[in-house]
Amino acid sequence: MTHNQESGNDQDSVLRKPVSRRDLLRMAGVGGLGLMLGAGGMGGFLQAGRSLNANSSPARNTGDQVPFYGLQQSGIITPPQDFLCFAAFAIRSKKLADVRALFQKWTAAAAEMTQGRMIGEWNEQHNSPPSDTGEAEGLSPSKVTITFGVGPSFFDDRFGLSGKRPAELRDLPAFNGDQLSEDWCGGDIGIQVCANDMQVAFHAIRNLARIARGIAVLIWTQEGFQRTAGADPTAQTPRNLLGFKDGTGNPDVTDKKAMAKTVWVQQIEGPAWMENGSYMVTRRIRMRLEVWDRTQLSEQEATFGRYRSSGAPLGASKEFDPLGLDRVREDGEPVIPVNSHVRLAHGDGSVQILRRSYSYSSGIDRRTGQMDSGLFFVSYQRSIAKQFIPMQQRLSQSDKLNEYIVHVGSAVFACFPGVREGGYIGETLF
Ligand code: HEM
Repeated sequence: MTHNQESGNDQDSVLRKPVSRRDLLRMAGVGGLGLMLGAGGMGGFLQAGRSLNANSSPARNTGDQVPFYGLQQSGIITPPQDFLCFAAFAIRSKKLADVRALFQKWTAAAAEMTQGRMIGEWNEQHNSPPSDTGEAEGLSPSKVTITFGVGPSFFDDRFGLSGKRPAELRDLPAFNGDQLSEDWCGGDIGIQVCANDMQVAFHAIRNLARIARGIAVLIWTQEGFQRTAGADPTAQTPRNLLGFKDGTGNPDVTDKKAMAKTVWVQQIEGPAWMENGSYMVTRRIRMRLEVWDRTQLSEQEATFGRYRSSGAPLGASKEFDPLGLDRVREDGEPVIPVNSHVRLAHGDGSVQILRRSYSYSSGIDRRTGQMDSGLFFVSYQRSIAKQFIPMQQRLSQSDKLNEYIVHVGSAVFACFPGVREGGYIGETLF
């Protein structure tokens, strides 16, 4: 079977699901979400702006925290934790006041969870649902970070905010080869939760969705993983599911200048509410693992332009050696092929992005028996138009990797600047 035929099958399986999750949610409406997430409702918690510290529960375990408050949101330049739970929401309420109140409640809950505390007031009233669903009780915060962003659709006419949409924040253009399914596209709000424990990450998304009841509904979610710190105590660059080290060419997150240049929106470019925020792109990229696994190692290495074992650029010996794109073989051909992923992604080297992707495995495609696995690509950048788009245009046109991957989901979000204690996420916009 050729790759094209396979891609036809993939498209069938991805696009012709009888009833999508999103359809179900539409049919179920807001009440349905409540049913899906359990009958908990919001319990005694959730009065906007209320300080939770006075009566809040004891910390579950205070180790392993990433500070929630700060100039910038955590979860962006934070070294990637082991697991990801990503959620996109559609807002059902038409009132800005509801949305503002939701972000206030979410901020309070996120601050609690990142400190390893249970959400809401600590009580043992047996006649009402608990304000925290409980599955993280007793667990370490596990370096959980909760990063909030809003998508282009947030700025339609519903909330009177259309004048505040950043010029940067638009749905991505169609790229060559895209086979997008609405099951993993878009969203008024995107929340990235990362933690060193999957149950802690899931707990965060579940409780944020529960808090949103009546105002916003989940429209898609994606879980992700990489090797855990336990399996790799020396913290080597993690490998993706194609077996290659992934992240080597990322800019240095400890270099403030590089982060200001690449990741953080600066005052001069505006809008003012986005200063110290960042734009996030997510692409759900399915891998044709079965095809890759039948491909010779030399071909695999030519696809990326790096050696699989060491991660070094072809023709070099160490992972962090310069790419050396000018090197040529005896036959005059470049050592790093012209259609290799690193050469095309690198371009002239003047533009970078910060990649923060996770592998995913979501069962199998029942039509083909193939694995629905790949990369949940996440990148942060100061400008989507100047950084991500030209890169993806080059890759979608010529990348040899395209024989083995297909982009099936896509979303962009403007991630707010960080929040000071006493404030709330989104305050600069609302
Ligand atoms: C399933 C899809 C993808 C896989 C498996 C993949 C894998 C890799 C690998 C193995 C490397 C080399 C090691 C490294 O520097 O991290 C790399 C580099 C890179 N990739 Fe990807 N990638 C994928 C998609 C993308 C996309 C969609 C973009 C952006 C549009 C992208 C941008 C980059 C960049 C900027 C580099 C570094 C290039 C440099 O050295 O300057 N990748 N990728």
